[in-house]
Amino acid sequence: KLSANIAGVDFNGVLINASGVHCQTEKELDELLNDDAVAAPVTKSATLNSRDGNPKPSYFEFENGSINSMGLPNNGFEYYLKYVETHKNNKPIILSIASLSKSECVKLLKKVQDSNFNGITELNLSCPNVIGKPQVAYDFAATDEILNEVFSFFKKPLGIKLPPYFDLTHFDQIAQVLNKYPLSHVNSVNSIGNGLLVDIDTEAPVIKPKGGFGGLGGHNILPTALANVRAFRLRLNDSIKIIGTGGVKTPEDVFAHILCGADLVSIGTELNKRGIGIFRELNNGLLDIMKNKGYSSVEDFRSALKES
Ligand code: DHB
Repeated sequence: KLSANIAGVDFNGVLINASGVHCQTEKELDELLNDDAVAAPVTKSATLNSRDGNPKPSYFEFENGSINSMGLPNNGFEYYLKYVETHKNNKPIILSIASLSKSECVKLLKKVQDSNFNGITELNLSCPNVIGKPQVAYDFAATDEILNEVFSFFKKPLGIKLPPYFDLTHFDQIAQVLNKYPLSHVNSVNSIGNGLLVDIDTEAPVIKPKGGFGGLGGHNILPTALANVRAFRLRLNDSIKIIGTGGVKTPEDVFAHILCGADLVSIGTELNKRGIGIFRELNNGLLDIMKNKGYSSVEDFRSALKES
């Protein structure tokens, strides 16, 4: 059985889209909502005002990887709030919120608090692609300050999307901050920020914004994603669930994320590459692996990584 529970919300499956992929429009969200192999659609991270995003090309795919500097193109907060408030399917939806400042963040979450949406909201503290704006979650004091203010009024399920960390001391420090708050979940990882891919024919970067600097995703980042999922599962309170994001291409990759501690697993680059049929393929493949190993439920191996 493929299932998960985050903050009392039941998921009938373990696979979701990574925010940013196949989730900007109502039509794309409907397709995810109507696919039985998708446990929940996640909406494109929304800002108060709609945005066109950065100049194109802002996305490029290569062997086992992607680089993007989309720049938060989205239809604006009200568009996504209305979608999650009014959809007619009883499948859960995760509402992703981004913001360009702490005051915008507070304003958006107050609107969610006052709305009819009672599902899970995810605050994105890790977008690497807005010119002049830092990835907030690399600043532990700023993250603490935002969460402290947010949880003074926000009483619905709230998780956060984190960037990848690379130092065990940083895991200790950020986990210590996160454990102070009643977070529903952490979603690890966002893209590995500010990579640079160069085309030697044109002698230029493959994407245009920010001098070619962009977030790395795809199968190449799987070890970083697994390390982050594992490091957080070993450090966070049990009540804080984990959405594993990063590097998933095969059913084995989904299995590995769950083994490291993921409750749900997201698909980004490969969803963009292969389309939404990938959810059915990965679900079936995961069930095959479980059958071969004699597991009937994901609970039989979730977070059960063994010693070598
Ligand atoms: C964008 C990229 C991200 O990694 C993110 O978390 C939010 C937005 C973007 O460029 O649109």
